[in-house]
Amino acid sequence: MTAIDKFIESCPKAELHLHIEGSLEPELMMKLAKRNHVAIPFTSVEDIRAAYEFENLQSFLDIYYQGAAVLLKEEDFYDLTMDYLKKCQQESIRHVEIFFDPQTHTDRGGAFETCFQGIQKALQEGRESMGISGGLILCFLRHLSEDEAMKTLDMALPYKDQLLAVGLDSSEQGHPPEKFSRVFAKARDEGLRTVAHAGEEGPASYIWQAIEDLKVQRIDHGVRCLEDAKLVSYLKDKQIPLTVCPLSNIKLRVFDRMADHNLKELMNQGLMVMINSDDPAYFGGYLNQNFKAVADSLDLGIEDLAVLAKNSFTSAFMSAEEKARYQKDIDALVESMN
Ligand code: ADE
Ligand code: ZN
Repeated sequence: MTAIDKFIESCPKAELHLHIEGSLEPELMMKLAKRNHVAIPFTSVEDIRAAYEFENLQSFLDIYYQGAAVLLKEEDFYDLTMDYLKKCQQESIRHVEIFFDPQTHTDRGGAFETCFQGIQKALQEGRESMGISGGLILCFLRHLSEDEAMKTLDMALPYKDQLLAVGLDSSEQGHPPEKFSRVFAKARDEGLRTVAHAGEEGPASYIWQAIEDLKVQRIDHGVRCLEDAKLVSYLKDKQIPLTVCPLSNIKLRVFDRMADHNLKELMNQGLMVMINSDDPAYFGGYLNQNFKAVADSLDLGIEDLAVLAKNSFTSAFMSAEEKARYQKDIDALVESMN
């Protein structure tokens, strides 16, 4: 094993951009399809994997929502989350902020509580038996209406103390952040933090809208910010985190090849960026695979990777003491490798 691989595998990390439905591995999809008697258009795990060739974000989302249809019961969400947490344990991920899309499940007649409690139960166990901290970020599906998002928020408000934030995901083009200004204003009035996917496929103006209209604390993806110099200087001044997802960006053709990814340029511009896996079961790798891919293709060394890992804690919704503790551990690991 190379020194870089060893560093990646043992370095403490936080993951801030992970859709729990996107961690549904083909094996579990098959198992749940059987267990819940849900018909899926695949007959084997290989069949499912072969379908994962995407043209863009929408072509992925079509398959992703179809896959999520096997998730029906509380124990399904528990199993899904437990599998992800076990991966975290293997990959030295110490803190997770997990996105979930309740509308994907409530639109099929499921109760909000079914998915919420199943994920929370696994998170609680992860905290107790694996020492992994974290929580949930409720995402609104932006291809659906403002009214539907508002109803989802109302459904979740009794549990607001158990949410880290609300977010915005799904089809970006044609669904600008401003469409959800009132929903996010209400969430903020209720004391919730906000984040939003912006500048993944959509233009830099969507990142401005997420900041100005939704008053987000972090931008998810945000890689298209480099198209607007004023925006870059604003993001740098305020150190607004961008949760970048390299393998996702290649699979969804935001960049042609990893060597073309702008992560290094974002770092050189002084932006607060870190690495995440987005939908690892669909994009060919969990967090450490993302680290390895950028290290290889963008020629990043241990010092650069340590900056990315430290940024993940800086950007996390956790106490200053916890952040400092992990950052000290990362410094010590870098030191031990010199
Ligand atoms: N939902 C799951 N993954 C997503 C992504 N990369 N962009 C937007 N919505 C998503
Ligand atoms: Zn995402």
